Amino acid sequence: MFWVNFVILSYMKTVIKNISKIVQCDENNVKFRSGKDMSYLKVVNNGFIEIDDGIISNYGDMDEWKGIDDWNNTKIVDAEEGIVFPSYCDSHTHLVYAESREKEFFDRINGLSYQEIAKKGGGILNSAKKISEIDDDELFERSLARLNKIILKGTGAIEIKSGYGLSLESELKILRVIKKLKENSPIFIKSTFLGAHAVPLNFKNKKSEYVDHLINDMLPLIKSENLADYIDVFCEDGYFNVEDTIKILKAGKKFGLKGKTHVNQFNSIGGVKASIDNDCISVDHLEVMKDEDFLAFKDSNCIATLLPSCSFFLGIPYSPAKEFIEKNIPFNLATDYNPGSSPSGNMNFVSSLGSIKLKLSSEQVINATTINGAYAMELHKEIGTISIGKKANFFITKQIPSYQYLNYSFGENLINKVFLRGKEIK
Ligand code: NIG
Ligand code: FE
Repeated sequence: MFWVNFVILSYMKTVIKNISKIVQCDENNVKFRSGKDMSYLKVVNNGFIEIDDGIISNYGDMDEWKGIDDWNNTKIVDAEEGIVFPSYCDSHTHLVYAESREKEFFDRINGLSYQEIAKKGGGILNSAKKISEIDDDELFERSLARLNKIILKGTGAIEIKSGYGLSLESELKILRVIKKLKENSPIFIKSTFLGAHAVPLNFKNKKSEYVDHLINDMLPLIKSENLADYIDVFCEDGYFNVEDTIKILKAGKKFGLKGKTHVNQFNSIGGVKASIDNDCISVDHLEVMKDEDFLAFKDSNCIATLLPSCSFFLGIPYSPAKEFIEKNIPFNLATDYNPGSSPSGNMNFVSSLGSIKLKLSSEQVINATTINGAYAMELHKEIGTISIGKKANFFITKQIPSYQYLNYSFGENLINKVFLRGKEIK
């Protein structure tokens, strides 16, 4: 079993020195950046960072560093001229699943569509069958192994959805695993109940009965164990329609759960407006956008979550990220890590796709993968930028020529050290 080890520090204070650049510093407490502000990126050259008890207590230019009062209680870390970036904030994943689905992948490569595979009992229903068969401890171990891998790839906060259960028992199994991950990992985790991911086989042609079951039986139990922070619906032709989506979001709200919805992945059917009107914190996917979908964001606090590695893997259109910028609508980039449409939780790759496919600059990508991702999980006050008072969640790269090199050089592992809550993760 592969576990991430905390380096046990008895020190109260840590100083990182010899940083060639500290990227994404902010002392204005921004919630997110949108429009022209997405090109803003504050960088300190030749820097240091001080950490006290897991919190960033100071940072700045090495030449202005005042030194250390208490050498006995201070650990010095040499950044070896690497660049410091705030940890990635991945606001949309389905990381807790039982098994991979490479057979369906090759069916798709050989000509079947995602929807055709789903109709044959593949897709989400296939993953639900696998969840019903796996034992809780094994599901936890597999999920923890995935989580540990992505931590070392620079992710410091993640949202994880249920939705491969589709029965009371299996949805609880996934949500309890997410809770156990929260308790056993230093990464920040938000949990989302996605009972409305697909209609399970035992409710075939009885979708409204399944929606009622989800609202009347699953939600109260999930709430009583405090297993979810958000509620999600896959609002799409063949899955749940706008009426179902509104009903589920309203029920979630009664239990104090804000929405985060899957909308406009294949069709624009009104899910964006329905989600925003029902106070969703984010609307996710948005590969297919009509004018009315953009208009729905007006005067809202909702952020868009774009998932370019899902487009890459399924060969479907990419979200029109530039249009979001022109219209001053905030968006973040996330992995959608799941076995069916994006079997990768690598935010470095998502960052590269942000530039290669969405045509974003490095500055826009960095804002979209850090502070804006934090906002999509309501963690922007704690993480997402290098700021005094925020948690020390960041990674240090190997020596690279510029911060732009990180998303330019796709597929390479450029991360040297990872810090979460002020501790180095090995
Ligand atoms: O976000 N679109 C719906 N759900 C997932 C994929 C689920 C699956 O194929 O297992 C997504 O892409
Ligand atoms: Fe998803």
